Amino acid sequence: MELRVKRAPRIDIEITVPGDKSISHRAVIIAALSNGVCTLQGFLPSEDCMHTVNALRALGIKIEQPEPATLIVHGKKRVLTPPKSEINCGNSGTTMRLLAGLLAGQTFESRLVADAGLSKRPMERVIAPLRQMGANIVAEGPEETPPLRIQGGSLRGIRYRPPVASAQVKGALLLAGLFAKGKTIVIEPAPTRNHMEMMFDYFLVRTAVDGNGSVTVFGDQVPESRDFGIPGDISSAAFWLVAAAAQRRGHLLIRDAGLNHTRTALLGVLLRMGAQVREAIEDTDQVEPRGIVEVTGFPLKGTVIQGKEVPQLIDELPILAVAGALAEGKTIIRHAEELRVKESDRIAAIAHNLRAMGAQVAEMNDGLEILGPAPLHGVRVPSFGDHRIAMAFAIAGLFADGETVVQEAECIRESYPGFEAVLEEFTNPKRMQISTPVIGSLTPGPVEEEA
Ligand code: S3P
Repeated sequence: MELRVKRAPRIDIEITVPGDKSISHRAVIIAALSNGVCTLQGFLPSEDCMHTVNALRALGIKIEQPEPATLIVHGKKRVLTPPKSEINCGNSGTTMRLLAGLLAGQTFESRLVADAGLSKRPMERVIAPLRQMGANIVAEGPEETPPLRIQGGSLRGIRYRPPVASAQVKGALLLAGLFAKGKTIVIEPAPTRNHMEMMFDYFLVRTAVDGNGSVTVFGDQVPESRDFGIPGDISSAAFWLVAAAAQRRGHLLIRDAGLNHTRTALLGVLLRMGAQVREAIEDTDQVEPRGIVEVTGFPLKGTVIQGKEVPQLIDELPILAVAGALAEGKTIIRHAEELRVKESDRIAAIAHNLRAMGAQVAEMNDGLEILGPAPLHGVRVPSFGDHRIAMAFAIAGLFADGETVVQEAECIRESYPGFEAVLEEFTNPKRMQISTPVIGSLTPGPVEEEA
């Protein structure tokens, strides 16, 4: 499938985004382990998350889906049954890594297979610590890549410092820790999204989080069944937020977005680049904070993204690189070598596509240097089979001359079903819903300068 994009007219729109991908994976897994029926609202029915749902069904969990975004999960008190065949994780790294942790503590053997893209991605990062816990895992691909054959068994808690900051690794170890004897402690090199620990807490699993980046789960616990509401995915919102921020006087309001502080670093970057950004948490009763994000566009200026900020906006870097190409001056992204092992080599993919559209980009081992503002030209760009590259360059197309064609854009369904319909609203002014600015600002924006 090709996605055809033309320059956007003035952006003034109010939208919502589908459920958070990271939270959706975790919610359905924890509900499946719980001691009763849990209803999940706002679930993301994307290809990646459905791989997790189908894997749990293959492990004997009844999961009903009366509507695309509603799941009724019949938890079986941590009892899973041996799958009849191999479990297909598709292109979902989160599915494979979280399931590796879950399956390591079972009494049966299972095999996790992946599509061609995920089959190239590193699994050593979860296999090594799970082996330390006593798991028997064999990666059948070269250099510890999928498929994974997991012979579950009894596990012991460990104290582990992952060499890379990864919420998937932390999540896998915390899930394995639920089935282990004693405590499992993960000490993160830099803070990553904290959904697993927040959700454990909500499902009454005993955990301890200290200020030095260590997360502890106490072994041998059964989560208490609870209903759970999943907020909109701020990483999906990011594409539209950048579009509005990069258009002078562009205005966008997103309701019911997840505003967990471990996920909102993007907003700080947009503010630094000169956009006006407001966020207002509206619902603090739920586990995950959620509310309104509002952005008003100003001429953007380049910025530096590096260090501990990187793991907190790792999925937003492709679209922030596009923002960099539209901004005045240099945007530098460093310490982001993890981008090389995402759904594509995102450093190479971003550099290739931005150059194809006319931007000046230098590629570094661990990042990019982008000199803007670039007059972008509509050309054909590959998606590299990567949903976030496809969406980032669809947004670049909103700022380009002529027509931009994103090739092989079907991968967008992995994380954002419905992306194309919103894109259509951005390019077709007749259908735009004009929204009034919201009062109340948590994050002050810059003072508007007249042209
Ligand atoms: C995710 C963690 C991140 C992120 C991915 C989702 C998660 O990966 O890039 O899209 O839900 O835990 P890493 O753990 O590899 O950083």
